[in-house]
Amino acid sequence: MPKTWSQQVIIITGASAGIGKALAYRLAPQSPNLVLVARDRARLEEVAETCKRLGATTLVLPTDVADSQACAEMIQATIEKFSRIDVLVNNAGISMWSTVEDVQDVSRFRLIMDVNFLGSVYCTKFALPYLKLTQGRVVAISSVASLTGVPSHAVYCASKHAMNGFFESLRIELEGSGVSVTIVAPDFVQSEIHARSLGPDGKPLGRLLQDHGSFLSAEACAEIIIRAMAGRKRFVVTSVRGKVGRWVKLCFPQVIDWMAKRGVSEAYRL
Ligand SMILES: NC(=O)c1ccc[n+]([C@@H]2O[C@H](COP(=O)([O-])OP(=O)(O)OC[C@H]3O[C@@H](n4cnc5c(N)ncnc54)[C@H](OP(=O)(O)O)[C@@H]3O)[C@@H](O)[C@H]2O)c1
Repeated sequence: MPKTWSQQVIIITGASAGIGKALAYRLAPQSPNLVLVARDRARLEEVAETCKRLGATTLVLPTDVADSQACAEMIQATIEKFSRIDVLVNNAGISMWSTVEDVQDVSRFRLIMDVNFLGSVYCTKFALPYLKLTQGRVVAISSVASLTGVPSHAVYCASKHAMNGFFESLRIELEGSGVSVTIVAPDFVQSEIHARSLGPDGKPLGRLLQDHGSFLSAEACAEIIIRAMAGRKRFVVTSVRGKVGRWVKLCFPQVIDWMAKRGVSEAYRL
């Protein structure tokens, strides 16, 4: 494999766990400069140690992406250390499993939007001037939930639809700048997100989804993301059902509603 990422400055949000961590480990042997972003400093330091052993230079920047000022400072700290940004991967995210009716604390709705949607918007906005200088790459880790409605997942689903709208618009704004915008829409992936998902009471569910063992591994998902980044792809869906579903929905939306309901009741046991 050519060393596409050697010396490249790559910011990964949500790098302390799951897909972000797997992405950092997969990129590290190519000697990039990895900027590792999440809230938990101790876990980021552990990821950084492994990345360094694999060949990367690292910068750990504990940041809550829901805080716009913190995102601005994270981008500034990256520039102070490496003087450039080549890739921004907007991956940090949280989830929620509850029917709209059952949610007890409506402030949880805002939290999901603040992290998943606005967190990506803030990081991208502040990184943009530097990405234009390098003709860099913006990557948004969305979800198959951005493609259709998903019961018991409405606000998470809305946050991912919002991401698509933002990044699709940004791509058009950036035409001619050399900066690419890649949206990746994973289907279920093995990670901590499911057990950490907020339930109706606003607290983490604390349990894995039913089919967790059959989900795509975080490593396989990271590989798909890297290929999409390298090819400056527009939109990549990780599962066959997600790819086919996009087209079926155009003519038979009720079939996709049924599939979404069945998929969720199998995974989450409604
Ligand atoms: N797993 C799936 O089935 C699946 C499917 C489709 C899409 N996705 C998307 O993939 C992305 C990664 O998810 P994952 O499955 O890898 O989840 P994960 O294992 O729970 O990892 C989430 C990462 O986001 C970070 N994070 C959460 N809130 C944050 C905040 N406010 N500020 C900064 N970082 C924050 C977490 O670190 P800290 O807690 O230390 O901050 C962690 O590093 C998410 O955007 C998710 O929506 C996942």
